[in-house]
Amino acid sequence: MASWWQRGIIYQVYPRSFQDTDGNGVGDLRGVLDRLDYLAGLRVDAIWLSPVYPSPMKDFGYDVADYVDIDPLFGTLEDFDALIDQAHRRGLKLILDYVPNHTSDEHPWFMDARSSRNSRHRDWYIWRDPAPGGGPPNNWLSHFGGSAWELDADSGQYYYHSFLPGQPDLNWRNPQVCAAMHDVLRFWLKRGVDGFRVDVLWLLIKDDQFRDNPANPAWRPGDSPVSAQIMLYTADRPEVQQVVADLRRVCDEFEDRVLIGEIYLPLERLVAYYGADLSGAQLPFNFQLLQASWNARGLATLIEDYEAALPAGAWPNWVLGNHDRPRIATRVGIDQARVAAMLLLTLRGTPTLYYGDELGMFDVNIPPELVQDPFEKRVPGIGLGRDPCRTPMQWDGGAQGGFTSGRPWLPLDPDYAVVNVEAQRSDSTSMLTLYHRLIELRRSSSALTLGGYQPVAMTGDLLAYIRHSGTERFLIALNLGAEPHAVATPHEGTLALSTYLDRHAEPISRELHLRANEGIVIALS
Ligand code: GLC
Repeated sequence: MASWWQRGIIYQVYPRSFQDTDGNGVGDLRGVLDRLDYLAGLRVDAIWLSPVYPSPMKDFGYDVADYVDIDPLFGTLEDFDALIDQAHRRGLKLILDYVPNHTSDEHPWFMDARSSRNSRHRDWYIWRDPAPGGGPPNNWLSHFGGSAWELDADSGQYYYHSFLPGQPDLNWRNPQVCAAMHDVLRFWLKRGVDGFRVDVLWLLIKDDQFRDNPANPAWRPGDSPVSAQIMLYTADRPEVQQVVADLRRVCDEFEDRVLIGEIYLPLERLVAYYGADLSGAQLPFNFQLLQASWNARGLATLIEDYEAALPAGAWPNWVLGNHDRPRIATRVGIDQARVAAMLLLTLRGTPTLYYGDELGMFDVNIPPELVQDPFEKRVPGIGLGRDPCRTPMQWDGGAQGGFTSGRPWLPLDPDYAVVNVEAQRSDSTSMLTLYHRLIELRRSSSALTLGGYQPVAMTGDLLAYIRHSGTERFLIALNLGAEPHAVATPHEGTLALSTYLDRHAEPISRELHLRANEGIVIALS
């Protein structure tokens, strides 16, 4: 019997940008609650909420000052309880973001840790003496630019931060840290959350000998600064597997919960996070579509490589967008974004979609004076900033797109006047209608939700595959190019869906005709 997280579709809500109800320009939990009917109507299965914990917001919630409460900006624990209750009433699961790698420097644990070398929580973080000649203990780099070591002048030692100095890394080699962080999971699991998306899961353990990372000869100016080194000693260390298995064990104390890992690693390392005998994350996020160059042959290869790399019994998953990467419509253009939607929702494995992508929202150019993202502030001007993909959800054509009655924390795309939920709802060929139809089709078919995947050989810009379960079989053919294509096929069937949403139930035999940028699903007879 498949679990909900195998059959289901995950929808990521970035709470700051979903729906504001109190006019301060930042989204909140009541806003998510008010929009639950929209999400239930879209027929997704689970909502993943980016962090809503108390935070100084240096990294917009990924700097947690208290793991077991809600930031007043987003609401209260009562609001959270109401949200989870109302989500469950609508058959929606709720997945929280869990940020175990680092706390905020305003977390009481860190405030105590830095208060003296002998404090109770000192060893909950990673402290080192300066290098023999002075300066940082080794060459490790922060993901947000510069050294990953920050000098604490009072104690004369450096602490390690994978991200901002305001995000000191916890020491997962300390059993007290593990125990305290396991209790955090239990706190939310008891409150009814259905699972966790674990932030930077592959970074949790660092080399215990603090060896220098080697330089990366492939690095070029303009690349992310941290990739100037090969993260041999700061990422994907062997001991992390035990940490993952322990997190999973805690989730498994409760029924039917899911552990999802944020992991940016090459395929062969990524799949290690399913764990020995699948004792790790049920869904190590598969980010290949975020990075793939958008052509049929490349995609065909990466899908097959992924399918082949999966350990026995492991369940696949696909991610099309998130709050850290450019939006799909910006990456591949609005026409191919429709093809991408069909790909995501017909591949084998749990799909995760990012709020607003169902409307074809674009990245928004943020003028320098409005930049919020600390990454962009520290490493400006090379396109690493994440504000462009975090702009407010576009609900209607009214003031601020229905997102807020105040001034939004990031500007809306001026296209919101036409690209919005209300307008697309009543448009039979809109992106939103396409998402509705794709989700309906997927949900109604065991071949598409749980069935097998079989590649179909094609050439040029065409990508094709079959999904099958018992006697039910679908052929999916996607034209990744901007030229029409006709291709002979041995298959016969009936058109179930075109990304153009203008062809219906046509019989198909001998030839497939695909217009420019068209994807089709055919129910095979
Ligand atoms: C993850 C989050 C990102 C955050 C970083 C540090 O990559 O997705 O938004 O800045 O971790 O917590």
